[in-house]
Amino acid sequence: MKKSPARNMLLKKAPSKLLERINSSIDVDVRLFQEDIEASRVHCKMLIKTKIISLKDGKKIINGLQQILRDVKKDKIKLDSKFEDIHMNVEALLHSKIGPIAGKLHTGRSRNDQVVTDFKLWIKKHSQIIDDEIRKLQKALIKIAKRNTSTVMPGYTHLQIAQPVSLAHHCLAYVEMMGRNRSRISDCIKRLNESPLGAGALAGTSFPIDRKMTARLLGFSKPTINSIDSVSDRDFAVEFIFVLSLTGIHLSRLAEEIILWSSQHFNFVKLPDELSTGSSIMPQKKNPDGAELVRANASSVISNLNNILSLLKGLPLSYSKDLQDDKRLTFNTYDNVLLGLQVMAELMNKIKFNKKTMLQAVEESYATSTDLADWLVKKLHYPFREAYQITGKIVDYANSKNKSLSNMSLKELQKFDNNISNDIFRVLSPLNSMKSKNSFGGSAPEIVKKSIQYVIKKYL
Ligand code: ARG
Repeated sequence: MKKSPARNMLLKKAPSKLLERINSSIDVDVRLFQEDIEASRVHCKMLIKTKIISLKDGKKIINGLQQILRDVKKDKIKLDSKFEDIHMNVEALLHSKIGPIAGKLHTGRSRNDQVVTDFKLWIKKHSQIIDDEIRKLQKALIKIAKRNTSTVMPGYTHLQIAQPVSLAHHCLAYVEMMGRNRSRISDCIKRLNESPLGAGALAGTSFPIDRKMTARLLGFSKPTINSIDSVSDRDFAVEFIFVLSLTGIHLSRLAEEIILWSSQHFNFVKLPDELSTGSSIMPQKKNPDGAELVRANASSVISNLNNILSLLKGLPLSYSKDLQDDKRLTFNTYDNVLLGLQVMAELMNKIKFNKKTMLQAVEESYATSTDLADWLVKKLHYPFREAYQITGKIVDYANSKNKSLSNMSLKELQKFDNNISNDIFRVLSPLNSMKSKNSFGGSAPEIVKKSIQYVIKKYL
């Protein structure tokens, strides 16, 4: 049986089965395969350039690494769980291809700087995938918005119908949230973008390495400045998980609305069949499982954030094996959020809105009461507080008569103030109410149309 190249001579006994089990991370960090080979290739180029190893040996190593990469792409690689992680596996594979020269690759580096370098490269690459999936969701939301600047729906506060808004305006709220997430991702990557390679185990190295060269070749902006911090820092993973958690929470809020809207009580949307399930016993049911699972995924992601923070709390400098868990948490968060983004984008691309029901919900509520009060202020010059009182009385009356505001007669309204004129009916219609909200960032169609142009330019 092959022995792990990292097995120390002081250790007279092979690791116990239990230690092997708890120590092994290959099932998780196999996802760093390409990054590990890339970082090793760049490290080797630097070792050649600085003459730490000969050109001949270096070329053999680079060729060997390239062969491994080709094998990986063809799915020809068999990983060995004997070698606890991806770094030991790649080293062992290299050894099997080029023999003992493989051992020269580890000159001037340690697994501690190696793992954090690979991990940062992985996050950088995958942050772009997340960014792109967020963009696709924004695109689906903007598509709905474009068609619905005049589609009236109830706007809520406290989940009570508050004021009419447009479906477009509501969707664009999510576009903004998602835009902030994209900006957070880019902030996180800016801070992450320093290369830890060359920090060694924790103290740096006595070999004349060129850290600027490896940083540049790996696409980092510069090398990290403190070798101890370099191997113990996982702030970038915390930030990445945080940004994804917040994205997950936003997805969950959207999912929650879809779940509510698809319930018979709201009946605002018709879910796509392909994203719903039936009940095994109640034939009439159409359940919003897709959205519910996105909502559930958010809780795993929040737990991962909590988990990585607790992992770091109280951990002395610099590297401790606890840090190995960072990847499990990060990958799980990434998988959950990526899936959530994809499911919600598909949902938003296929969902159908029951516009009539949404309008009816506004009409049946007293959602234009504020407009009535505002009219009393503007036309009859009441102080707002007084107008508010009068409107309250009108709403109370309308309610007792089971009437909507716009269904009241002028006579009835004049019981509350003689000077109320026919003109008031203009502001009582939901569409006009919405049109009147033309303050910057408001829900008037003319304003929302401008916002759509703005978000298309900014995000798509
Ligand atoms: N698999 C390890 C990890 O993910 C790699 C670093 C191991 N370093 C060490 N000193 N044992 O953290």
